[in-house]
Amino acid sequence: MRVFAIGATGVLGRYLIPLLLRGGHEVTVMSPGGRLDTLPDGVRRVRAGLLDPDTPERLRALLDDADVVVNTATAIPRDFAARGAWQENTRLRREGTLVVAEAVLAAGTPALVQMSVTMAYPDGGDRWLDEDEELDTCPTRAVVAAPVAAMEATVRALPTDRVAWTILRGARFVGPGTGQDQLRRQLREGTLRGPCGGREFVSMVHVADFAAAVVAVVENPRPGAVFNIADEPLRIAHYLSGLAAFDGCPPPPATAEAPLDVVSHRVSSTAARVELGWWPAHGIWPLRDLDPEKT
Ligand SMILES: NC(=O)c1ccc[n+]([C@@H]2O[C@H](COP(=O)([O-])OP(=O)(O)OC[C@H]3O[C@@H](n4cnc5c(N)ncnc54)[C@H](OP(=O)(O)O)[C@@H]3O)[C@@H](O)[C@H]2O)c1
Repeated sequence: MRVFAIGATGVLGRYLIPLLLRGGHEVTVMSPGGRLDTLPDGVRRVRAGLLDPDTPERLRALLDDADVVVNTATAIPRDFAARGAWQENTRLRREGTLVVAEAVLAAGTPALVQMSVTMAYPDGGDRWLDEDEELDTCPTRAVVAAPVAAMEATVRALPTDRVAWTILRGARFVGPGTGQDQLRRQLREGTLRGPCGGREFVSMVHVADFAAAVVAVVENPRPGAVFNIADEPLRIAHYLSGLAAFDGCPPPPATAEAPLDVVSHRVSSTAARVELGWWPAHGIWPLRDLDPEKT
């Protein structure tokens, strides 16, 4: 298939693109920055951002012969709490997704796979969160959840008889190059503070496993479906102490200062396992550094 991947030069793209190439797909990647040069040989590259003024018109022409668009564009801030940190990501989710939706409709692209995040679910405590759960409307988390809801609404508005869209809600990525590296570093340095209690659930997925879910949908479109893509959830305290043990460090001391989003997300990925035949093959622990070319 001819796959047009937007924003696939990042953490996910590093696993996704080799997987698509190995599946025999023709791949074009569009992104705005300098990382296009890091893509493997055989990938067509387009330097453009979804928020560039000329992109709406350009994208329609670029999608002329695409069988499927995979939208993985994101601009997650490094420092979540910094002033205006989420602005670019919010624009990308609200305005950028609209650009993609209008372009696939205008170009007649048959399918769209849109990445989303389980981070937008509300605090579920010990309750399992499946795809029927409403996204969070709590005002204190609006900066995170509202743009995700808007992004998904834009995709859902596409008529499935014209664009076979699927939304994949990914849990927190782990594996090389993800936030897990930073947590491990903080644990080794003893600078990480554990959440008080740590009984909240955290849901994660190895980025290589998430890439496999994307490819599964590219190859077998599931029009109008939304899937959670997550490994088995853990309580935060178990995760942090397990991660510390992996590097031979003591678990972080309990304190009121939480290193992770303390919203409890016990995410169910039963639908993906049953309907896509997807399975988290790599687990969540950093047992080895995977070579993206060989996963
Ligand atoms: N990270 C997680 O824990 C996580 C969890 C679940 C789901 N997801 C989803 O998975 C997808 C990929 O995430 P990731 O971790 O791979 O992100 P990433 O490493 O930050 O990569 C972001 C990608 O988006 C591109 N991008 C940035 N601004 C853009 C713009 N204006 N127009 C088009 N592309 C733009 C970047 O291009 P440049 O290289 O040119 O800057 C890069 O290719 C996202 O949709 C994200 O929401 C992530």
